[in-house]
Order: sequence, then structure tokens, then C-alpha cells
Amino acid sequence: MSTVTFEGVSKRYGEVVALDALDLRVEEGEFVSLLGPSGSGKSTTLNLLAGLMDADTGSIRIGTRDITGLPPEQRDIAMVFQNYALYPHLTVFENIAFPLEARKPRPDAATIRAKVERVAGTLGVAPLLARYPKEISGGQQQRVALGRAMVRDPKVFLLDEPLSNLDARLRIRMRRDLKALHHQLGSTIVYVTHDQAEAMTLSSRIAVFDHGKLQQYGAPAEIYERPANIFVANFVGDRETNFLDGTLEAGADGLVYATALGRIPLGNGGATPREGRATRLGVRPEAIAVEPDGGSDLRVVLTELAGADLFLTVRGRDETEVVARADPRAIRITEGEGVRLRFDAERLHLFDAGTGVAVRHGGG
Ligand SMILES: Nc1ncnc2c1ncn2[C@@H]1O[C@H](COP(=O)(O)OP(=O)(O)OP(=O)(O)O)[C@@H](O)[C@H]1O
Ligand SMILES: [Mg+2]
Repeated sequence: MSTVTFEGVSKRYGEVVALDALDLRVEEGEFVSLLGPSGSGKSTTLNLLAGLMDADTGSIRIGTRDITGLPPEQRDIAMVFQNYALYPHLTVFENIAFPLEARKPRPDAATIRAKVERVAGTLGVAPLLARYPKEISGGQQQRVALGRAMVRDPKVFLLDEPLSNLDARLRIRMRRDLKALHHQLGSTIVYVTHDQAEAMTLSSRIAVFDHGKLQQYGAPAEIYERPANIFVANFVGDRETNFLDGTLEAGADGLVYATALGRIPLGNGGATPREGRATRLGVRPEAIAVEPDGGSDLRVVLTELAGADLFLTVRGRDETEVVARADPRAIRITEGEGVRLRFDAERLHLFDAGTGVAVRHGGG
């Protein structure tokens, strides 16, 4: 059993609450990402799990075993850090073999060789075993660092921003490799990243952190489509979510949100928020359709072509702006033109303006 369970785990550094009463459960074989901005408590969570520091309160279990007080080497965990320094004076083979050589009793040479070759084969670095770290690429070094962790057959892998030293293209390739590797190994992986795209593509579930607090824990699609609060809506997604202030009105076909950009139907089906609370509408760029309309008050003030997407910034009379995502091949619009906006009611999110907590998602 290699489930990981945090129960009420907190950690402070003086005045700073690095982690605030974390409850989190990672199922066996899951790939869970800890996602959040710098300083949100991701590495603290991972280091507590690895045993590199002690929690102030709470308990951590792997399977049914309470590991809260155990030293790192008794936790059956392997960790790969952001700075995956390989030993420069050792070959790739010796680097991967290192944790086995250090084991007591030391396995015999044939066992070590077999294990290293199996791991190297899995990671596609078998032809590089005789080389030194400086004679292989960054991505290859990264894989060797993973190999050094894998060779120990740990119950749980912890990876702290392992791809952050790689260039953008290589990172995307390594992402694919990591995912394939996870499918192959079936091990439990806890992965730290501040890159929401990485978390979205790799994870079975994402735990979103801010200021040491877990904000939401769920599958990527759930986090994206039903953000628990304004922070999550804004942090997850390759473009920022648009936020519009307005007031709720009852229309003939359900609720309507009256904003500076017009009256936006929220559709039927969702919950009706409590009266008297200020609200804010969240809408992703792809949930806004733009159509040319010479008679409209709304103007396109900026067009940005980003490969497959065209981003249009649309401004109302009172300077309120939203960004819409369009298909550049389907629309001909130039800056300064008048447009009409259509909001997809299924993809609108209403938040409490005071607490930021989601009170209603489109589509139920
Ligand atoms: N050794 C330390 N002493 C004092 N404060 C610390 C220490 N380590 C972390 N902190 C503080 O605890 C909070 C959480 O830090 P943590 O390293 O967990 O963040 P993170 O989410 O991993 O950020 P990053 O993306 O920058 O790595 C931050 O406010 C940080 O400044
Ligand atoms: Mg960190």
C-alpha cells in the first residue's frame, strides 16, 4: 500500500505559516501535482513527506504506517530535486548505481548491473552509461537523476520542479516521458510545480496551494471547469480568467448578470446565490464569442495572434475590458472595430466578491 495521507499537518517558520492544517490523500499509483505560486508551501509539503523536516502538528502516513517521526531513510521514498546535481566524477552508470552501492548490505555486482541496466533501458539512457554527466544533454541528465531515484524501487516518488532547468521545448518532451514512465511504473508520484500546464497534463489530481493553504484538490478538468475560488480560477489556465463586477437580476430565462459590458444570461440550472452579497463573474477567454457589430459600444482595442489562437481585448464605454479567444481562421477583425459578445452560460462562474469562494458554476 503506498497511499499517502496528510492529516492536519502544519509547519511554521517564526511568524510565517508555511503550511496550514493540510489534509490530503494521494491514492496508490496516483500522479498528484502540488501546484501554486512561489512561497505557497509546495516544497514544505514535499519536504515534510520526505522527512527532511518535522511537522509542528498533524500526522503523515504511507499506507497504514505512520511515518511522521521517522528519519528519511526509513520512509521508502525517493526524491528528485530541482537541482538534480549528478556526481560529475562518476559515469552515468555509477551515478545510477550510487544508491545501491550505499546500501547495507551492498548487493553483489551482477545484481547492481542488472538493476541499473533495467532502469537505464526504461529511461532511454542505456547507450549513455559509460559517459560522464558533462558529456550528455540537460534532458539526459534529468533522466539519469530520475534513474538514480528509480533504482531504489521506492514506494513513493517525490519530484520537486524536476523540469525547471530545461528549456521550454525539452520540458514538454520530458513531460510526455514522465507520463509514459508513470504509466509503466505505476508508482505513486507527488510532483511539485508552479507551472499550471505541467500540472494539467501530468496529473491524475492537482492540489492547488496559496499562502500555505490547500485551495482545491481535484482532477485537472474539475479544477479547470469548476474552480473553487477566484484564486484557483485565475491561477489555472494558460490565460487569465476575466472578472466582471455586476449585479444579479431575474430574467425571463433564468438569472441575468448585469455588467458594464451588457446583460449576460447565466442560464438555468445553477444554484441561486444568496441575496445581498456582492458577486463577481469569472469567464475564461474561450467562453466568449466575438462577432463584428458596427453599431455596438464595444470595441476591439488589441489583437494578439498566438499561433492557433487569436486573443481579442474588447473594451466597453467605461473602460471595462475582457479578453476573448477566437479562431484566427474563422474571424476577420481589426483593432478599433465594433463587436458584440456572446458568453457561454455553461462556462460562467459566479464568485462571492468578498470571500472569493465560488457560489455558482454554469451548467449546474
Ligand atoms: N527555512 C526556512 N526558513 C524560513 N522560512 C521559510 C523556510 N523555508 C520556507 N520558508 C517560507 O515558507 C513559505 C513556503 O515555502 P515553500 O518553500 O514551501 O514554498 P514553495 O511553494 O515551494 O515556493 P517555490 O515555488 O518558490 O519553491 C514561504 O513563505 C517561505 O518563505
Ligand atoms: Mg519550492
